[in-house]
Amino acid sequence: MLAIDFGARSIKAVQLSRTGGGYHLENFGIVLTPPDSILHGEIKDVAAVSQALAKMLRKKRIYERGSVIAITGQKVIVREITTPLMTEKELAEGIQWEAPKYVPYDLKESLLDAIKIEELEEKEGSKMMKVLLVAAPRSLVEQQISVLKNVKIQPKAVDIVANAQIRAFENYLSPVSSSEEDGTRIDIVLSIGASTTEITLIEGDRLKFTRTILKGGNDINKAIEKKFNIPFNEAEVLKRKIGLSLSEEKTEKVAEMEEIEETEEALGKVAEEKEEEVLTNKIEKVKKEKTEKENSEESLALANQKEIVDLINAGVYEIFNEVRKSLNYFKTQYQKVNYKRIILCGGMAQLPNLGQVLKKQFGITVVIANPLKGITVNEHEVDINHLDKYKSALATAIGLAKRER
Ligand SMILES: Nc1ncnc2c1ncn2[C@@H]1O[C@H](COP(=O)(O)OP(=O)(O)OP(=O)(O)O)[C@@H](O)[C@H]1O
Ligand SMILES: [Mg+2]
Repeated sequence: MLAIDFGARSIKAVQLSRTGGGYHLENFGIVLTPPDSILHGEIKDVAAVSQALAKMLRKKRIYERGSVIAITGQKVIVREITTPLMTEKELAEGIQWEAPKYVPYDLKESLLDAIKIEELEEKEGSKMMKVLLVAAPRSLVEQQISVLKNVKIQPKAVDIVANAQIRAFENYLSPVSSSEEDGTRIDIVLSIGASTTEITLIEGDRLKFTRTILKGGNDINKAIEKKFNIPFNEAEVLKRKIGLSLSEEKTEKVAEMEEIEETEEALGKVAEEKEEEVLTNKIEKVKKEKTEKENSEESLALANQKEIVDLINAGVYEIFNEVRKSLNYFKTQYQKVNYKRIILCGGMAQLPNLGQVLKKQFGITVVIANPLKGITVNEHEVDINHLDKYKSALATAIGLAKRER
C-alpha cells in the first residue's frame, strides 16, 4: 500500500507490499515542505503542497494511484469510552448520541468513527462495552484529499497517526501483563516532529491514550533564528550539529568546538536534502545557499554555542514537560501503571543525545526504534543511505503503508 504523511518539515511517501511473512519496501520519497504550507497537522497551502508532492512522486517514479493518509493535531479526538453493549449497526447510530460529550465542535462538520474494543463483565445487570471513539473536523481530512486529488491519487483510507505508529513498531511492543503485581504494562511511543509531538500509550497492541502536543523541532530553530538573527535553515544546521548536552562538562566541550569545517560539512548535508526541495527557482537556490554559507561561517564564529545549547535544551524540556503531564494524567486514570519503555521516533529522534537525556529524565528505557524492522529492503531498488538517515521520520508513513485496506 502507498502511504503519504504530510509534515511541517517534510512530506513523506512510502510504498510497501506484503510478502509471505512480512513486508517489502517497494519505494519511498521525501520532499521538504514548502515554507509555511503545513503546520500542526493542517495543510495551509493546498496548491504548494500538491506541487511539491507531485514533483516528488514523479521523481521517485511512484505510480500507485491509491493512498492511505493520517490525521493528527489537537482537533483529533481519540477516546476510549464505555457504552452499553450494542451491535455494530447500533453503535454507528448510538455514537451520534455519545459523541457530543467528548467532541467540542459541531458534529455536522466532523467525521466520527467508533470501534468496539471489548465487552465488559456484566455490572448490575447491564452489559457494557469499551469503544474507541475517533472524531475529527471534516476540513482536516478534506485538505489532504484536495492535495491527493491534485496529484491524481484516490484516498483509500484515513487513519490516525497513533494507529500508524503502533503498526510501525509492532515488533517493539511488550506483551500484556499476566500478573497482578506487574501492573498494567504500557509502552510509550514518542514521536517528535517539526511542529508536533505525538505521545501514544499502548497496552499490548492496543491504543490506550494519545495526545498531540503542538511543539517540535521547528520551534527550536525559530528560537535560534530569532536570537542570532540567522536564517531558519542555518539554525537547523546548528541544532543538528550541537544537539543536547549530556552534562555540564559536555556543555563546555561543545562550547569549545567552534570549528568551521564541521559547519561546512553540515551545510553540505542540508544542501543534499535540498535536492528534493521544490518550488525554489534553481538559480535563486544556489545564490541563497551561497549567502547562507557565508553567513553561517560568520555567525557561527560570533554565536555563543553555550547559548545555542541552552535554546535547544529549553525547547526539548518544554516538550518533556508536556510528556510528563500526559504520563502523570494517565497514571491517575488507571491502576498500577508500569511504563515499560519509550519508543522514540520522528525526525527529532536523531538529535544528538536526545535518547540519553530522555532516559535520564524519565527513568524509563528508551529505544530509538527502527520502523524498518521486519521489512525487507533491496539496495538496487532504493537508496539505502538516504533511507537510513530518514527512517525515524518515516515511522508514520511506514505504519500507514502496512495497512491492507
Ligand atoms: N539529524 C537530525 N538531527 C536533529 N534533528 C533532526 C535531524 N533530522 C531531522 N531533525 C528534526 O526533526 C524535525 C522533523 O521531523 P519530522 O520529519 O518527523 O517532522 P514532520 O513530520 O515534517 O513535522 P510534523 O509532523 O511535526 O508536522 C525537524 O525539526 C528537524 O530539525
Ligand atoms: Mg510528522
